[in-house]
Amino acid sequence: MAETFDKKKTIDLRHKYIGPSCKVFFGQDPIKIVRAKGQYMYDERGERYLDCINNVAHVGHCHPDVVKAGAMQMEILNTNSRFLHDNLVEYAQRLQATLPDSLSVCYFVNSGSEANDLALRLAWQYTGHKGIITLDHAYHGHVSSLIDISPYKFHQMTGSQHSQLVYVAPSPDIYRGKHREDHPDAATAYSDEVENIIQDAHKKGQKIAAFIAESLQSCGGQVIPPQGYFQKVAQHVRTAGGIFIADEIQVGFGRAGTHFWAFQLQGKDFVPDIVTMGKPIGNGHPMACVITTRKIAEAFMSSGMEYFNTFGGNPVSCAIGLAVLDVIEKEALQSNAARVGRYLAELLRQQKEKHPLIGDVRGVGLFVGAELVKDRSKRTPATAEAQDVIYKLKEHRILLSADGPDRNVLKFKPPMCFSEENAKFAVDRIDEILTDIEKTLGLPVPSNAGCANHNSCHGVLCDKTVQKQHGNRNSHLNGVDS
Ligand SMILES: Cc1ncc(COP(=O)(O)O)c(C=O)c1O
Repeated sequence: MAETFDKKKTIDLRHKYIGPSCKVFFGQDPIKIVRAKGQYMYDERGERYLDCINNVAHVGHCHPDVVKAGAMQMEILNTNSRFLHDNLVEYAQRLQATLPDSLSVCYFVNSGSEANDLALRLAWQYTGHKGIITLDHAYHGHVSSLIDISPYKFHQMTGSQHSQLVYVAPSPDIYRGKHREDHPDAATAYSDEVENIIQDAHKKGQKIAAFIAESLQSCGGQVIPPQGYFQKVAQHVRTAGGIFIADEIQVGFGRAGTHFWAFQLQGKDFVPDIVTMGKPIGNGHPMACVITTRKIAEAFMSSGMEYFNTFGGNPVSCAIGLAVLDVIEKEALQSNAARVGRYLAELLRQQKEKHPLIGDVRGVGLFVGAELVKDRSKRTPATAEAQDVIYKLKEHRILLSADGPDRNVLKFKPPMCFSEENAKFAVDRIDEILTDIEKTLGLPVPSNAGCANHNSCHGVLCDKTVQKQHGNRNSHLNGVDS
């Protein structure tokens, strides 16, 4: 069955019954999707769209193995985790095996927001402190505790005052952030910002319970933190008695290509105290997880309060979670992400040589961003142009989004079965669209066009200084350039 109502009726009913702040993609001309398979989605007329944005459909939309695992378990039993069930413990054991040994205790929940909210509760209980440090432009979820730590959201509210217990550190964005790729040690500079926040909090008599960050900032604009940043931040935060929460809700489960978890890109010497997971974990089935250390879990237990979650860790969710892990392995999707992601980033870098609107291309695995700027030296965000690209791609039946604080970063995070052919098709269309837009804007071809060896000339002539910058920058692009 494809449709119950025609598209116009669906739109009318949505306006009538669904909260107006629940937005649709392409508000001016929304798409009605009736089915999906692999990396493709189909509208009510059977038109096929290439999905470059759905990181939830991690192993491919409606993967038969995942669907079958869920359906089979639904036929047998679904109930809460107060009864013993093998799916729960088997899944916990399998997930743990993907992580460092110290991260060994799981709490299963139903959404990324629930996972991050629980992570905060664990941090508060374990440390006895209240302060939370978050990154600028971060998004960690929709419940009250998380809106408080999500500048991406609270900056949108008119007349809002954010919580006095929440501190916002600069996003470690070396392209348009406070410390850039020409900084000799951006990791230290950005982690010193966190240390300064800790000291300021102490002066006010407040103590830090946790630093929370996505291992790769997604809504914040596909930001890849400089290598060593997390280690340094963790050291400052732990010295102050706090803990490190890595939000892997968008970027986990092999998306980074070279590693299963994106925090591992920082090096073997970095292990968070809590990892939160969601979105891809159930390939579309609502499930999520918090994994932490035994010590933190025991401190949480010592409050005396039981933790109960009606649906978290039910046998159906765990069967689905197990099937997702099996498919990632069986279809070698992590190495596909590394290979296709490298190819996609390379294609985009070739476009950067050609199109002045592309200021930066960055990514690891199938987490790739192309930042559009009106002026490469000032790095002025090309927000309207990015929106234009997204809408025109839609006409070519390609679904892509533009994100970041200025909505100027073209954001690729497709299902992990995305192919080189898909990447070429999408980038060729971007090339055509940018050519048209630049012609209309009368933009010149950049002076470094044709400089094939360098990825980040930023419109500056390719001299030794710039070559040094490339060296710095490329060292942060683990999955793509290595
Ligand atoms: C990084 C990050 N954390 C947490 C969440 C919240 O997850 P959910 O929407 O499943 O509650 C999101 C959702 O977009 C997210 O991107």
